[in-house]
Amino acid sequence: MKKDLLSCQDLTRTDLENILELSAKLKAGRGKPNQPRPLEGKSVGTIFAKSSTRTRVSFEVGIYELGGHAVYMDQGKTQMGRGETIPDTAHVLERYLAGIVIRTFAQSDVEQLAANAKIPVINALTDDFHPCQVLTDVFTMLEYKGKTDGLRMAYLGDGSSNMANSLMLVSKLAGIDMTIAAPEEFRPRQDLLDLKFGPGSATWCSSVKDAMQDADFVYTDVWVSMGFEEESKRRMQILEPYRLDMNTLKMGKPDCKVLHCLPAHRGDEITDEVMDCPASIVFDQAENRLHVQKAIMSLLMG
Ligand code: CP
Repeated sequence: MKKDLLSCQDLTRTDLENILELSAKLKAGRGKPNQPRPLEGKSVGTIFAKSSTRTRVSFEVGIYELGGHAVYMDQGKTQMGRGETIPDTAHVLERYLAGIVIRTFAQSDVEQLAANAKIPVINALTDDFHPCQVLTDVFTMLEYKGKTDGLRMAYLGDGSSNMANSLMLVSKLAGIDMTIAAPEEFRPRQDLLDLKFGPGSATWCSSVKDAMQDADFVYTDVWVSMGFEEESKRRMQILEPYRLDMNTLKMGKPDCKVLHCLPAHRGDEITDEVMDCPASIVFDQAENRLHVQKAIMSLLMG
């Protein structure tokens, strides 16, 4: 693997398979004696400039379970928040830490941190990409279907979001055929639709029915991502036809499963009925963040 995980474009198909295999081993072994502790004696920095529940807790628990120590930093309360440059921060933190996990706004900031630090940097969400989430999503799909190649996934809603960007990349790598149903205003990035990056595919349409045809999985995410709150009212109006309700779920395969990276805004992008129905695997998906991130850290920092 490369030194850093900044987007799924850092990964080869072999890297993906190694992450998935190790994730399954770590999940099966959790709580049993003699588990690997590749971070024994090491400290990992976690920098957050945005809110988080799953990412922060699953990384901190994962670092602990791998034998390491997590050092949480609220980005705004560090000297970065008072103007210390990213390269200077990288040169300092690499003297203390075995790796850095960072959630911030600009993808370019994470890239600059990684380019200047000798230690691995893991992107824990930027405005452009959320690789740890989508690697977890592929692991969850693999658990349910026993394979990833040839699966069909519908994605409903904001096709221009960091989640849609990341899912397009990981779907191509994992051999999944992803169809994004989104209005013109929130259509997916053309460069990512066109990108040749593995056996899978990513296509865009405006029709929910077309996207749901033969879907093994249907994925949705909040309509107002962090940092876009001022657009809230307009987004709600435009995206309303893309809400995942029971009628929409029935348009997929009879055993179509529901994915959501959470947090969900119940009643907006997804109804209570769908969130809580037997087809919903969103809490298994959330749990899997822990196992997959442990695998990623083991491979990059172990
Ligand atoms: N899915 C996700 O990244 O959740 P948090 O924002 O709670 O970390």
